[in-house]
Amino acid sequence: MATTYLDHQATTPCDPAVVAAMAPYWSELFANPSSGSHRPGLEAAAAVDLARCSLARHLGVAPQQVVFTSGATEANNLAIKGLVEARRQRGRHLLTLATEHRAVLEPLRYLAGHGFELTVLPVQPDGLVDLNRFSEALRDDTLLVSVMSANNEIGVLQPLAAIGALCRERGIALHSDGAQVFGHQAIHPGELGIDLFSLSGHKLYGPKGIGALVIAPGISPAPQQHGGGQEGGLRGGTLPVPLIVGLQRAAELASHDWEERQQRLGGLRDRLLAGLLELGGVQLNGSLKHRLAHNLNIQVEGVDGNQLHRALRRQLAVSGGSACSSGSPSHVLAALGLSPAKAAASIRFGLGRPTTAAEIDLAVLVVAAALNELRG
Ligand SMILES: Cc1ncc(COP(=O)(O)O)c(C=O)c1O
Repeated sequence: MATTYLDHQATTPCDPAVVAAMAPYWSELFANPSSGSHRPGLEAAAAVDLARCSLARHLGVAPQQVVFTSGATEANNLAIKGLVEARRQRGRHLLTLATEHRAVLEPLRYLAGHGFELTVLPVQPDGLVDLNRFSEALRDDTLLVSVMSANNEIGVLQPLAAIGALCRERGIALHSDGAQVFGHQAIHPGELGIDLFSLSGHKLYGPKGIGALVIAPGISPAPQQHGGGQEGGLRGGTLPVPLIVGLQRAAELASHDWEERQQRLGGLRDRLLAGLLELGGVQLNGSLKHRLAHNLNIQVEGVDGNQLHRALRRQLAVSGGSACSSGSPSHVLAALGLSPAKAAASIRFGLGRPTTAAEIDLAVLVVAAALNELRG
């Protein structure tokens, strides 16, 4: 029996149009874009330039603000460690939220082990930051704030415009991990006061292994990968032209259908939630109002988490939390106040472009059957 894939927050399938756009760049137009001394090299460089300009347009920034990386993890590391290295004379305090992805928490913890002071703010039971508490936590020596745009487990959207305004008033740099937002909603980091914005190709039906850091004018993180001077000296390494072209195509496709997709998937998500609530003993994790349309995360009462996920995986590809923390209890659900047992008996559903109403109805039936079996 085929597995129904509802784990689009972990990753998305590469769109066939993206695969087609990348195809010529593997073995026909394969030249190194840094090879400026011959025509194939110049053609590869032109493809990269075009992709950079196109991506920049979707983000409302100038092309030179886009630095290609291997994904959001690398973009987060460059933003956080690079900014702190460049500005370390100005302070030693760093601020983030307890629900951030590990690709943000780990670089910050690394810095905390190297003389910086890290505040990890708790969130409210609905996953949102308390803005008063946030404002009080900012200090004169705060160097950097990092708050994700949308959470990868519970889909919660933080009030970034308000956070950006508070940071701007105090002259504090703001980084946002936008891996789950870019390609799913219109987002212009500059308008929100975001100085450093990370994104990842494989979350928007593009290829794995490519992402970008978008850097506001006047912000100059120190390079974290030294090499051949690519990307204005900020990120050494031969540029992966096929992946860059793939990211460009994925962003174009997303810009055409994100509104319609959000509406359609929001409707399917509500249908899924209604069906699951009818089963009884099911509760929503995280705010429904301030949330990505294609995410649902629920906790199920009266069942063992391991047994629940074992029963589901025969037919459904869903997850208990972040793909990057598989096996360990979710620090995001813990931050909402869930016990380890309740967090383990939680399910993340990530709907995506290919998701159909029939798959949603099947998912409800599969969960119902699992609960019947486990609850006896
Ligand atoms: C919010 C968030 N940040 C960072 C990452 C890591 O992105 P990448 O796989 O591109 O390194 C992910 C993906 O798991 C994510 O969801």
